[in-house]
Amino acid sequence: MITEAHTGTSTGDPRPSLLIDLATGLWKTQTLTAAIETGVFETLAAGAASAPQLAVKLGIGERPAEILLTACTALGLLEQQDGRYCNTAVSDHYLVPGRPDYFGGYVQMVAQYTAPGWLRATEAVRSDAPTKPVPDPDRNMFEEGNRPESFWDALFAFSTLTARQMAGAVDLSGVRRIMDVGGGAGATLIELCRQHPHLSGTVVDLPHVCALAQERIDAAGMTGRIDTAAADFFADPLPSGHDAILLSMILHDWDENQNRQILASCLDALPSGGTLLISELLVDDDKSGPVDAALMSMNMLVGTWGRNYTGAEYAGWLREAGCDRVRTVRFDSPGANGVVRGEKA
Ligand SMILES: C[S@@+](CC[C@H](N)C(=O)[O-])C[C@H]1O[C@@H](n2cnc3c(N)ncnc32)[C@H](O)[C@@H]1O
Repeated sequence: MITEAHTGTSTGDPRPSLLIDLATGLWKTQTLTAAIETGVFETLAAGAASAPQLAVKLGIGERPAEILLTACTALGLLEQQDGRYCNTAVSDHYLVPGRPDYFGGYVQMVAQYTAPGWLRATEAVRSDAPTKPVPDPDRNMFEEGNRPESFWDALFAFSTLTARQMAGAVDLSGVRRIMDVGGGAGATLIELCRQHPHLSGTVVDLPHVCALAQERIDAAGMTGRIDTAAADFFADPLPSGHDAILLSMILHDWDENQNRQILASCLDALPSGGTLLISELLVDDDKSGPVDAALMSMNMLVGTWGRNYTGAEYAGWLREAGCDRVRTVRFDSPGANGVVRGEKA
């Protein structure tokens, strides 16, 4: 039988499936979050189970277990055979706690930390001000106490995936020492150094973040090769001694004047001929997408005073700040679709 679902609406109107999908996006996010938080993937990593068996193991009722497992299966997170459920390849790789690419912390960070601001997105659009609650809005939103420390843990998983792609796409053969300004817990620099054995460098961030980075650097066996330097990029001079500087997901946090200030400070710390790299989800120059960059920009609207800028905007600022040979290298990753790079004239 041919149904309406296959042919479009019987009235000839546009199909509403796009709107239904957008209206219920939160249902998918929260299904994933509930499965992570109740331990579904961790438990199934130990062996396939039926809904009643899993209900016992998770300490939840059979009704919610069956509903949750059905939803996870429909979303591609689980597979079901003969009434027993097991993880799909993606869940097994990314959603089992303790595995190297564990991504559940990022999912929880989005659900717990960014969601309250997103639920007031209309207000952010109307007021042109962030709606994500911050304990002390008069201080930098990244300062200690203004953001949960779990943010940097969550971002580590996300940015490792980004850096894996960046490391293969961006030519770093002429770089010896690289400074990752606002480098967070060090995910990007650790991954770049892993893939480029000739590289060493410095993670620069606020003092409490440098402490987190040092732990990660030590755990990655990069002690000595990667060091940390505490600095506020709006107030302190950046350390010298590097022939490249990376700004990964930094400029989207700030407004245009603040970005010019950050870029000027970076160029002050670079020797002539040194490379400045801006890694971001770049918005298309005609501002029509792509969707991941456009939605990251919405995420900046609800959480910061910045936005995701276009490749042309970043390139313009680099030239204005005193760079030449400005060009963009494209790649595909969760946190960046390209790097805009220039050389200090
Ligand atoms: C969105 S995170 C990006 C982290 C990292 N670059 C990455 O790609 O995962 C922004 C980073 O900038 C740092 N940051 C914010 N304000 C700063 C400041 N004034 N001086 C130095 N670092 C700062 C934050 O602590 C945070 O680690």
